[in-house]
Amino acid sequence: MDFFEAINSRYSYRGAFTKEKLSNDDIEKILTAGIAAPTGMHIPTTSYIAITDENLLKELSYIVPGKSVLTATFVIVMLTENKSMMSGMNFEIENYSAAAENILLAITSLGYATVWTDGTLRSPSINTGVRELLNVPSHMTIRAVLPIGRPVTPLAPQVKEQISDTVIFNKF
Ligand SMILES: Cc1cc2nc3c(=O)[nH]c(=O)nc-3n(C[C@H](O)[C@H](O)[C@H](O)COP(=O)(O)O)c2cc1C
Repeated sequence: MDFFEAINSRYSYRGAFTKEKLSNDDIEKILTAGIAAPTGMHIPTTSYIAITDENLLKELSYIVPGKSVLTATFVIVMLTENKSMMSGMNFEIENYSAAAENILLAITSLGYATVWTDGTLRSPSINTGVRELLNVPSHMTIRAVLPIGRPVTPLAPQVKEQISDTVIFNKF
């Protein structure tokens, strides 16, 4: 899929996925897209838990609500850590966000769908549940869960703002 087609056809998918499993090649492409994202001062701060194990996926679906997590055959959990000791600047949220968008676009371009699930993890009980299930070390922050698969009911992308709504050319 062409780059701009991927950008314009991406949407958040919260419905059911088919039972199709992703190939290892596609899994690798998706993860590599995240790792390829820019990072402040070229210091990587994002880690990925790539979940393919059926039992673990089922247990995760008891913690993170929604049809997409319930039916996904592949889930990425994105983690960050603060590595600002040298520079005093912490870019972990920016780094993770850049990686997440790269991943979303890779998923779309391969014909799969996902939803960037971050807000849901702000619930302390859900966050703790994910941490305990996956043995996430205490120095890492759980940022997002990305359930991935082939959508049963593909959707149209949302209508977005236009350039005229949001861009100021040159000066206010
Ligand atoms: C930082 C961030 C956090 C998000 N958290 C959630 C979430 O917890 N649950 C969810 O269903 N969607 C979540 N989303 C998806 C947004 O709701 C979605 O991107 C927005 O409604 C626009 O729709 P679109 O992705 O289809 O363009 C999140 C998106 C971002 C960027």
